Amino acid sequence: MTDLTKYGPWALIVGGSEGVGSAFAKQLAADGFNIVLMARNAERLEAAAVDVREAGAEVRTVALDLLADDAIDKLIAATADIEVGLLILNAGANTYGSEFVGGDLDKHLQVLDLNVTRQIPLVHHFAQAMVERGRGGVILVGSLSGYSGSDREGIYAASKAFSRIFAEGLWAESKPRGVDVLHLVLGLTRTPAMARKGLNFDIPGISASDPEAVAAEGLAHLADGPVWITEGNVEVARARSSATGRDTLILKSIEGIKKIVGKL
Ligand SMILES: NC(=O)c1ccc[n+]([C@@H]2O[C@H](COP(=O)([O-])OP(=O)(O)OC[C@H]3O[C@@H](n4cnc5c(N)ncnc54)[C@H](OP(=O)(O)O)[C@@H]3O)[C@@H](O)[C@H]2O)c1
Repeated sequence: MTDLTKYGPWALIVGGSEGVGSAFAKQLAADGFNIVLMARNAERLEAAAVDVREAGAEVRTVALDLLADDAIDKLIAATADIEVGLLILNAGANTYGSEFVGGDLDKHLQVLDLNVTRQIPLVHHFAQAMVERGRGGVILVGSLSGYSGSDREGIYAASKAFSRIFAEGLWAESKPRGVDVLHLVLGLTRTPAMARKGLNFDIPGISASDPEAVAAEGLAHLADGPVWITEGNVEVARARSSATGRDTLILKSIEGIKKIVGKL
C-alpha cells in the first residue's frame, strides 16, 4: 500500500493512459490517491480515466504531447491548484530506431527530448514543491537499455543512462529532505505501445513482465531508491555494468536486443 500521507494527495502520471502508467494510476487510486493522467491520445486517456475513477479516485486528464514547446507550461498550469505529492515520468519508450550517422537528426533529438530535456524542468518544478513540504516522491521509469550502448537505439540507451544517474544525484539531495526518488528499471514489458510496434514478447530465455507487476514493484520500493531493478533483470543489469570487456558485452547485448526489436 502506497502511503497517502507521505506521497499524496495527488499523483501526476506523465504517460498515464495505458500500460505501466495506467497500472500505476489504478493501484494508487485504490490506495486513495487522486490522479492526473497525461498523454497524447485523448481517447485512450479518457478510457484510462474511467477505469481509475471506478477505483475511487478524482481524476484529471491532460491531453498533451510532451514534445510540444508549451507542454511543460501547460502541464504546470493544469496542476497549479492541486498538491502533487508523487510525480511519475513513464512516457519515454524509444521513438526512433536508426543508426546515428545517416539518421534523421531531428528524430534523434526527439528521443533525447522525451527522456532528458523534458524530464529536467518537470522534476525541477514538482520536486521543488515536495522539498518545501518535506515529503513526496518521484519515479523515473528507466530501462535495462540504459546500462550499455546499442546500435540503432543509441540515443535511447544513453538517455536512460542519463535518467538513472540524474535520479541518483537527486535522491542524494532529496532523501534527507523527506522526498524519495526512484529510477525504476524495466526489462521487456508487455505494454500496448510496444505491442503496436510489433515487439516480440515470446523469445525463449527472455521473460516479458506485465505492466501491473512492474508498477506494483515500483510503488512497493519507492523508498528504496535511488535505483530499483525489476524482478528477473538484476543479473542482466549487473553484466551490462561491467567496467571491463565492454566490447564483447555490448555486442552480446545488441544481439539480445535485436531478437526483441528486430529492425524497429
Ligand atoms: N515496454 C517495454 O518493453 C519497456 C522496456 C524497458 C523500459 N520501458 C520503459 O517503460 C516506459 C513506458 O513504455 P511503453 O512501452 O508503455 O511506451 P511509451 O510509448 O513510453 O508509452 C507510455 C505512455 O506514455 C505516453 N506517451 C508517449 N509519448 C508521449 C509524448 N510524446 N507525450 C505525452 N505522452 C506520451 C503514451 O500515451 P500516448 O501514446 O497516447 O501519448 C502512454 O500513455 C518508458 O519509459 C520505456 O522506456 C519499457
